[in-house]
Amino acid sequence: MDKYLFRLYSKMISQKEQFLKYLAQTSPIPLSIEVEKAEGVWLFDKEGKKYLDLISGISVSNIGHRHPEVVKAIHGQLEKYLHVMVYGEFILDTQVELARLICSTLPTPLDNVFFVNSGSEAIEGAMKLSKRATGRTKTVSFKNGYHGSTHGALSIMGGEEYKNSFRPLLPDVYIVDFNDTDSLSEIDERTACVVAETLQGEAGAIVPDTAYLQALRKRCDETGALLVLDEVQCGMGRTGRLWAFEHFNIIPDIIAMAKGLGGGLPLGCFVTSKKLMQQLTHDPVLGHISTFGGNPLCCAAALATLKVILDEKPYLQADKKEKLFRENLNHPLIKSIRGKGLMLALEFESFEQNKRIIDRCIKKGIITDWFLFAPNCMRIAPPLIIEEAEIKEACKIIFEVLDKERE
Ligand SMILES: Cc1ncc(COP(=O)(O)O)c(C=O)c1O
Repeated sequence: MDKYLFRLYSKMISQKEQFLKYLAQTSPIPLSIEVEKAEGVWLFDKEGKKYLDLISGISVSNIGHRHPEVVKAIHGQLEKYLHVMVYGEFILDTQVELARLICSTLPTPLDNVFFVNSGSEAIEGAMKLSKRATGRTKTVSFKNGYHGSTHGALSIMGGEEYKNSFRPLLPDVYIVDFNDTDSLSEIDERTACVVAETLQGEAGAIVPDTAYLQALRKRCDETGALLVLDEVQCGMGRTGRLWAFEHFNIIPDIIAMAKGLGGGLPLGCFVTSKKLMQQLTHDPVLGHISTFGGNPLCCAAALATLKVILDEKPYLQADKKEKLFRENLNHPLIKSIRGKGLMLALEFESFEQNKRIIDRCIKKGIITDWFLFAPNCMRIAPPLIIEEAEIKEACKIIFEVLDKERE
């Protein structure tokens, strides 16, 4: 098609039709909200309709959309430089300062950061480092665990139906029940690492027992397996502590972060001890690298985000806000409310019922969705800065939708 005709044609078909035609689709029924603007806890579509964001896209906008400090930091970095060469060769202020600040929030021995672009990549890096450092090949992960969609992360995913079309995947992966001390015997002297979400996200906000996580830590110590905690979703204050592992009095060997870390720009990292991370400098040299991991603009946004979180400590309000959701969502259709802080799941009878409720909520201006491994559960993961009046308003609308569902 010539350029003129192409432009004319593009103007004639709606944005939604173009979205469906030119963009890769990930499901047969996309939400298709045409986003115009996002600010704080609110999203606005092209018609000016306002939506309260109860999912933070997903668990990313922990301090709200376009936090002024984040926007300012991005502008500041824009004036200096964007991409140069970002992995471990040049000294970039925002990267160094961010790595130092991340380490200052973590206990010994977590004092060295490898920046990547996403949660999946943080997990890939942690898995590779574990193999390299231990000389072992076996990986243990958990049923209903989600760690990303790349081949390595997919290999350790705890949901077989998502894996079957993409085999062969990584060998020597063992997937066991989460929060079940009996299955810890699968961790042995051949195990390079155990990868667990501290709180399982896509399983529908599952909070493990403290005794279980402590037993997991102990089993890793006994066998020499490295404990990798995936805090991609449950980190950055979402559960009421900056890092979810703080609830359980354990320390991982490697922690993976992403999502909320970048404050709305793509950034991930894995953090471990300097001694362990040193393994990636040799045998082979450049054995793990990334063109964009630690991009200065993303690091500037992440640095501003972490400073806001550390200064304002919005996560300290998460318990109170969780309680408010629980008090205001006491409805007979809700079978249970799972989770901790602002990582919650409302359990319904079935996926079909949940989907009807979610669709009606969205129509009424509440953005929510379901979980990959818990399709009968509705996600409540708003920005941590959500105010009490906004929680009450959201619950009122959800309640109306549930009453209608009961009619
Ligand atoms: C716990 C967890 N780990 C890893 C990932 C993968 O992160 P990304 O989508 O940034 O690759 C996700 C994404 O939802 C996640 O929830």
